[in-house]
Amino acid sequence: MRTSVKHLLNSEAAQDSVELSGWVRTRRDSKEFSFIELNDGSCLKGIQVIVDAGIPGSDEVSKMNTGASVQVVGELVESPGKGQSWEVRATEVELLGGVPDDFPLQKKGHTPEFLRSIAHLRPRTNLYGATFRMRSRLAYAVHRFFNERDFTYVHTPIITASDCEGAGEMFRVTTNEGGKPEEDFFEKKSYLTVSGQLEGECFATALSNIYTFGPTFRAENSNTSRHAAEFWMIEPEMAFCNLEGDMDLAEEFIQFLVKDVLENSEGDLSIFERFVDKGLRARLEGLASGGFERMSYTEAVEQLIKSGKKFDYPVEWGINLQSEHERYLCEEVVKGPLTVYNYPKSIKPFYMRANGDGKTVTAMDVLVPGVGEIIGGSQREERYDLLKAAMEFHDLSLENYGWYLDLRKYGTVPHAGFGAGFERLLMYVTGMQNIRDVIPFSRTPGNCDF
Ligand code: 4AD
Ligand code: MG
Repeated sequence: MRTSVKHLLNSEAAQDSVELSGWVRTRRDSKEFSFIELNDGSCLKGIQVIVDAGIPGSDEVSKMNTGASVQVVGELVESPGKGQSWEVRATEVELLGGVPDDFPLQKKGHTPEFLRSIAHLRPRTNLYGATFRMRSRLAYAVHRFFNERDFTYVHTPIITASDCEGAGEMFRVTTNEGGKPEEDFFEKKSYLTVSGQLEGECFATALSNIYTFGPTFRAENSNTSRHAAEFWMIEPEMAFCNLEGDMDLAEEFIQFLVKDVLENSEGDLSIFERFVDKGLRARLEGLASGGFERMSYTEAVEQLIKSGKKFDYPVEWGINLQSEHERYLCEEVVKGPLTVYNYPKSIKPFYMRANGDGKTVTAMDVLVPGVGEIIGGSQREERYDLLKAAMEFHDLSLENYGWYLDLRKYGTVPHAGFGAGFERLLMYVTGMQNIRDVIPFSRTPGNCDF
């Protein structure tokens, strides 16, 4: 039975016989024996394996180069070396797969750009191994957060006929390229979803508290470090909830995830702190113990104008806040995470609840230093007539969205929800600067390799 390296390194006692497998990180030879550092991805660290000359399989030790896969049987013994509790004295080794000299990960210190070009191999590096373990751990924490609060997990469709955000950034799904929509597979135009929200609302108005967690797609041609064409989104939706409750949940959610990372990803966190962001732990601890500032959109615009700073995109009431504005607000004005609420109606989607002022809607965005917008949400327009008018204003076909309007016709309730970008959350907790480096195989304009 194979034991993981993580398990072996955390062992309570020496063991007579253990079996392990992994990939060679480094090897040093002397006359009588070789030292192999073996990593199996179960944790950041590898374990040292001592291969004495003459044991079965040792004749192939010279081929156990960086990147080779190896299987080991041996004894787990206390390590005399510094900083390492256990090592394996091999009694038998087997080379599973060797590596020719062209293995691209021989040396350390590759650029992120180069590693993206070998995305099939980069999980074998320490930094990317840690990133993707972190991604898994964070996904688990997301489910735990909602499970502990009795939210029902709903799987909303990936293929859809409706454009939730109304921004027209959808990928078409077709089996009949160039043909008529009514002769296509679904007998109408269909797309990859940009958000599970509209379908999520159907379930929230039945099960009260629900969430979705799945892939979403946007064909926006913005080649930035924070946008991907395919990304994962977490979308809770709560019946009997207003904007206030929505903001409360969003802030609590981020705090929960950050605490989880601090408590459970200690080993991996250390590598981000060393190589990516020296201030990472302090920033995460600050968020875990501190609160979020809140500011209305109008106030945010006033702050930006008051700052006298020259932004690339000029500030006036009514603009869509750009990443430079968002980052200025949380990095310079409040020096921490910030929730901005009550945005102009004209820049937000049709489903947001109108405020009494005739100008703003109950939207909210959670902004964090370093990343900017990490969450976007709102209270939904639950009043039939007002929603219908908004749909007409946005030119949405009442035929296609009739089911959505029905939720307001039959037992309507105040309700609210938000969408959290999973990759943006990961960027925040790892300090990684580019969304392409926290998703296993990124899809961005001009790039769909692997
Ligand atoms: O603000 P957005 O567009 O909101 C919605 O889609 C709502 N339907 C959510 C809801 O209320 N249920 O997107 C939500 C979040 C953003 O705050 C951002 O973190 C992330 O999704 N996001 C992206 N992440 C990566 N690449 C992109 N192209 C993204 N677009 C949005
Ligand atoms: Mg948004």
